[in-house]
Amino acid sequence: MKKPVKNALALFFDLAAASLSTGFCAKGAVYDFEDDAEGTTENFPAPNSSPPSTPKNNNDSLEKIAKDVCACSACKLGAGRKNAVPGEGVPHPLVLVVGEGPGADEDASGRPFVGPAGQKLDEMLASIGLSRSKNCFIANIVKCRPPGNRDPESDETRLCMRFLERQIDLLQPLLILSAGRTSTANLLQTGEGITRLRGIWKSFRGIPLLPTFHPSYLLRDPNQKKFAWEDMKSLCRRLAELNPQYEAETGALRAARKI
Ligand code: URA
Repeated sequence: MKKPVKNALALFFDLAAASLSTGFCAKGAVYDFEDDAEGTTENFPAPNSSPPSTPKNNNDSLEKIAKDVCACSACKLGAGRKNAVPGEGVPHPLVLVVGEGPGADEDASGRPFVGPAGQKLDEMLASIGLSRSKNCFIANIVKCRPPGNRDPESDETRLCMRFLERQIDLLQPLLILSAGRTSTANLLQTGEGITRLRGIWKSFRGIPLLPTFHPSYLLRDPNQKKFAWEDMKSLCRRLAELNPQYEAETGALRAARKI
């Protein structure tokens, strides 16, 4: 909130208190508040002062990263995989979705988010005019399936993150949607739970990042879907603000406002 608004509000409350005879009277108090820090009013982080980082290796490509992922045996997950899952989508996406790691369906197919959670994710994206074939890229923190769908371990995430970082350097997505606790914890280097973090804009390498619930969690507990929808609307608002063409092409913000 800006300082003149704060000052006026404080005077208004003084007058209201006086006229309601609460016994409180500020007697001509003069207020001189400060503006809120940039970015605090809309729950958005301050705009970046520097542009997103440029590709570190000019010879890198998404194809090369995929090849390196498929050849990787840096951690124990490599030995147990049927297929590595590098990720898929468009090369310059509006949104990069980051999940935790492949499950059984993804391990079998080599493609990210293709099982029931993937269908849910596709639905969530479609609700605001997004899809992996048109304007998104879908990737994971670890590119090989952890056995029994356990959480990836810290050495596995540490060794695998370099692939995601290379992907982000090339993709330069406008926004990142971080799906679930594991992805958010690794991207933001935080132990804070996803229930606290979801819906709050953060940033990763200068790119605005929104944590939300993992689609598998929404399948297990449909009562949480209302929160995920709030997050999708927030993503939609931010996209429309940053890229007017997105709203012109999809009409997603207008549609979301009606629901
Ligand atoms: N869950 C994930 O986090 N990623 C996938 O690719 C599939 C399921």
